[in-house]
Amino acid sequence: MASERDTVLSVNNLVINFKTDNGILKAVRDVSFDLKQGETLCIVGESGSGKSVTSKAIMGILANNAIIAGGNIMYRGENLLEVSEEEFYKIRGHKIGMIFQDPLSSLNPIVKIGKQITEATLINSDKLKLMYNDLISDDLIRYKNTLAKMNIAIDNEKKKLDAQITELKSRENQTPQEKAAAKAHIKEKTAAFKEFEKKTRAEYMDKAKQLKAVLENTEKEAKQKVKEYKEKVTAQHKEREAELKQKLARASTKEEKEKVKKEIEEEKLDLMNKLSITKAEAKRRALEIMREVGIPEPEKRFNQYPFEFSGGMRQRIVIAIALTVSPEILICDEPTTALDVTIQAQILELINRIKKERNLSCIFITHDLGVVANMADRVAVMYAGKIVEYGTVDEIFFEPKHPYTWALLSSIPDVDSKEKLEAIPGTPPNMIYPPKGDAFAIRSKYAMNIDFREEPPYYKISDTHYAATWLLDPNAPKVEMPKIVSERIRNSLEGDANEQTE
Ligand SMILES: Nc1ncnc2c1ncn2[C@@H]1O[C@H](COP(=O)(O)OP(=O)(O)O)[C@@H](O)[C@H]1O
Ligand SMILES: [Mg+2]
Repeated sequence: MASERDTVLSVNNLVINFKTDNGILKAVRDVSFDLKQGETLCIVGESGSGKSVTSKAIMGILANNAIIAGGNIMYRGENLLEVSEEEFYKIRGHKIGMIFQDPLSSLNPIVKIGKQITEATLINSDKLKLMYNDLISDDLIRYKNTLAKMNIAIDNEKKKLDAQITELKSRENQTPQEKAAAKAHIKEKTAAFKEFEKKTRAEYMDKAKQLKAVLENTEKEAKQKVKEYKEKVTAQHKEREAELKQKLARASTKEEKEKVKKEIEEEKLDLMNKLSITKAEAKRRALEIMREVGIPEPEKRFNQYPFEFSGGMRQRIVIAIALTVSPEILICDEPTTALDVTIQAQILELINRIKKERNLSCIFITHDLGVVANMADRVAVMYAGKIVEYGTVDEIFFEPKHPYTWALLSSIPDVDSKEKLEAIPGTPPNMIYPPKGDAFAIRSKYAMNIDFREEPPYYKISDTHYAATWLLDPNAPKVEMPKIVSERIRNSLEGDANEQTE
């Protein structure tokens, strides 16, 4: 089952439009990526390329004028685009945490920091429920994943069929024979699809049934365990309470009586603590997390308002809030863009440390490729609502293939000279009228005629590296990446080699 858990989140063919006064704006155009357990995936691209819209779709917080026109976001066997609001909130509240660019806008200015950190913990405070959910979670996900995979497999095949039918029907100027042939072809394809659907259902349902049986068994056991736990702590409590009541009856002085009464109160509180997360416990946890994210004097800070914190400290608070729910996935949307350079480095270091310690999977969004090198395992380069190239961090930095990736690499300020080498010419397109073909063509000196007509497919460079550029077509003329990029790569590789021989 390890392989099933390998991918924690999977975005497939996501399409998001916005209704605007000037027309339909195409913000995200057929975006797909997987997030693997324990990795950091960086999404990088200029402002307006669709990074935030993608992350907001995952969090379920898109603006009201958004239209989700296609695709799915699979997490724990659910399509996040389809689950009910309540379920979504649970998943979101529980397992996916998000940190935004501007910490001020995600904090409530008139509520004390402490309350904002404990709030999330107190929403899910029923310990018995948490215990039950934890016990069944693995088997539940396996079962749901199987159903989801079945539906997606069938859905994809259906889409292919629909596309073929549309294509066959739209052919113009056909002879009657051709029309008849097309009709027969459609019939054949439809039958083949029905067969595929039947076979796929049978295959998956077989597995699903087995998993369902396992799940039901686990649920039974979990219920029993939770019941036993509850009975045990209540029995212990009753016994202890009875003892204390006898002690109270035996007490002779007023002082002694007061003391025992206090003990009885504490015993009650102790039981409550065992069944649910109390305010006191939420506070204890909050202080612990505040320490974890490097906030000095947490006890004092707990009672302060956001305006009493510096920008860097505020971002630490936002990280603390995201962590209170013990997320499995952390989405960081330009978390350091509003901060100055030294603070930025500290926050990046903090995110990297927390990610390692908590074994989180991370989506890290930035417009700055310079930041990516220190954060990413894999990189998706986004332009005009599309992923134009993705690969491991080494593939993107040492073997970049898309002219837009080259342009981004040329524009990173040099660490030594600090000079910004080459600004990317031109501006991103107006996404109400996205350009035909390769959207970057108009800004690229490597553009060929076909770039202005047809959208390039993804060319596979390695098992982990893909790029959507016609330059990778076997018929394309050979072009070299800009000198500035290749020189940097050479310098950095030589630097590495020197380090190794030193
Ligand atoms: N609520 C909205 N209504 C209309 N357009 C929007 C809305 N939100 C975002 N957009 C547009 O969607 C595109 C992608 O935006 P965004 O994801 O925020 O970019 P970035 O990559 O900078 O995070 C931009 O053209 C932006 O103007
Ligand atoms: Mg953004």
